[in-house]
Amino acid sequence: MTLTKLNKMKQNNQKIVCLTAYDAAISTVANQAGVDVILVGDSLAMVVQGHDTTLPVTLDEMVYHTKMVQRKNSHAWCMVDMPFMADADLRTALQSVATLMKSGANIVKLEGGKRIVPFVSALAELGVPVCSHLGLLPQHVAKNGYKVVGRDDVSAQLLLDEAKAVEKAGAAMLLLECVPSKLAKKVTDSVDIPVIGIGSGVDTDGQVLVVNDVLGLTENAPKFSKNFLNAQTASIQGAVQQYADDVRSLKFPTTLHLID
Ligand code: KIV
Repeated sequence: MTLTKLNKMKQNNQKIVCLTAYDAAISTVANQAGVDVILVGDSLAMVVQGHDTTLPVTLDEMVYHTKMVQRKNSHAWCMVDMPFMADADLRTALQSVATLMKSGANIVKLEGGKRIVPFVSALAELGVPVCSHLGLLPQHVAKNGYKVVGRDDVSAQLLLDEAKAVEKAGAAMLLLECVPSKLAKKVTDSVDIPVIGIGSGVDTDGQVLVVNDVLGLTENAPKFSKNFLNAQTASIQGAVQQYADDVRSLKFPTTLHLID
């Protein structure tokens, strides 16, 4: 996988399938299903380590999981999350990104829009692709809680402006979390870079889910997610394949998964 191919997928209206993976076993299954982008998400703090938020995971732990995933990843583009405070200032961000890229990341994901513009510019000049995570920001949970972002005109315009600002600064991708579907479509149509959505409707260029939700391992999974492991899919491989197939054929997400 390359960024050029992901950009072509956007241009050709081919949906991009993204799934989190935190270890070699799931990386293998994701590759078998032809997943386009594997996300080593800081969600691992919650679903692997058992914390209540994503905040406690460290840079060293992100490196550990990235290396496990990359040992069995032959196909997918590997996106790795910058953990909480690893991008507190430019110098810290550059050092953290260097560590993640040297451990095997193909692209780094940073939470934020205008705040990360200087980081995106500096990293783009250094040849590092960046994905800007907009909408609900799990690392800001202490301040903002977990809620849909962009329901009113002011916050919708702010999010659109942030998307355009990070694209202008050189961001390679966007990820929208819990954004109303109409706004997610508007953002997707307004930028040339691929936009991956979670809880943001069907019109983004691709979808991402947390693998533990796909496999029914999460207690109180979010409404926008789906357990794909059932009698028909019958196995972990079958469930991940069904997720990939359903994203590509626009069968997932449906109105059942809207949080508008
Ligand atoms: O860490 C993660 O898994 C994420 C997804 C919720 C998109 O950022």
